[in-house]
Amino acid sequence: MIEKLNSIKEEALNEIQDVNDETSINNFKSKFLGKKSAFSDVMSGMKDLSAEEKKNVGMVSNEVRSFIQDLIDKKADSIKKEGLNKKLEKDKIDVTLPSKKRRAGTKHPLTQVREEIEDLFISMGYDVVSGPEVDSDENCFEKLNLPKSHPARDAQDSFYITDDMLLRPHTSSMQVRYMTSMEEKHAFKMICPGKTYRRDDDDATHSHQFSQVEGLVVGENISLSDLKGTLECFAKRMFGTGREIRFRASFFPFTEPSYEVDVSCFNCDKKGCNICKHTGWIEILGCGMVHPNVLENCGFDHTKYQGFAFGAGIERIASLKYGVTNMRDYFTNDYRFLKNFDRKEI
Ligand code: DAH
Repeated sequence: MIEKLNSIKEEALNEIQDVNDETSINNFKSKFLGKKSAFSDVMSGMKDLSAEEKKNVGMVSNEVRSFIQDLIDKKADSIKKEGLNKKLEKDKIDVTLPSKKRRAGTKHPLTQVREEIEDLFISMGYDVVSGPEVDSDENCFEKLNLPKSHPARDAQDSFYITDDMLLRPHTSSMQVRYMTSMEEKHAFKMICPGKTYRRDDDDATHSHQFSQVEGLVVGENISLSDLKGTLECFAKRMFGTGREIRFRASFFPFTEPSYEVDVSCFNCDKKGCNICKHTGWIEILGCGMVHPNVLENCGFDHTKYQGFAFGAGIERIASLKYGVTNMRDYFTNDYRFLKNFDRKEI
């Protein structure tokens, strides 16, 4: 019996070499230690042995059983490790690779331009204010010296909500709001950027929604030269230090005198090109000295105070700066367009 046990041990030692996965290890276990195994046969023959023999065979059988069990445990362990190594090899991650960049949004070009304008005027001591996009006829027209019958209203037809409330057709309504809300009247400088609306058919250069920046300065000794100096700063900041501006006489009901302002063409430097339509100059905004009626309508004594005002289209400034030819690009949120204005590090 002892011989038998030793040969089982020998056989197990040989066969364990061929065991290399979980199934074969189970088979091996039942072959060598299972109920129908040769080992089990030896065990069942023990009952016929004498006490002395039982003791000897028992010792050897214990030794063989734990030897085989040990073979099984070690093999199972190495199979497990091997499996894990294989998996690690396959799923190898290179921690030194740069991580995937998260595509964060970017500031809209109109926001970028608006902020650039705000920064400039803040640096010159202006308040930056905002107000409602739905405003009264009184603030949008009446108090700006545009009574109901005034023909200049036609150029600014807007979206009416009631007979008296409308989507503001310009940020000039903020001149009225700012001045009338001031309890004690005093000199000030403000700009108001914001959205504006008009009943325009949308095309490459028109949109029913657009944005403007309004500027208003009121004080006791404000003159046209202050306006000129301010707008020159503005033009140089937006279009380059070499720029000049020129004033052309114009008409706005809320200013007297009124002007349209051109900037010297940044593309050809006044030689004439497609961008400036071969004139050397590009129109950028409307402005003028605040009409005395407007000052009075808003509670300012026009014999004491004067002021200047201007209004510029932000889309127009942005389009000139960046060569955008289709205004609709600003509103369709196409990433292919917007990514051109991405200032993130890449
Ligand atoms: N509100 C005018 C417009 O929308 C622009 C404008 C012109 C504003 C002259 C002003 C100004 O403040 O003085 O066309």
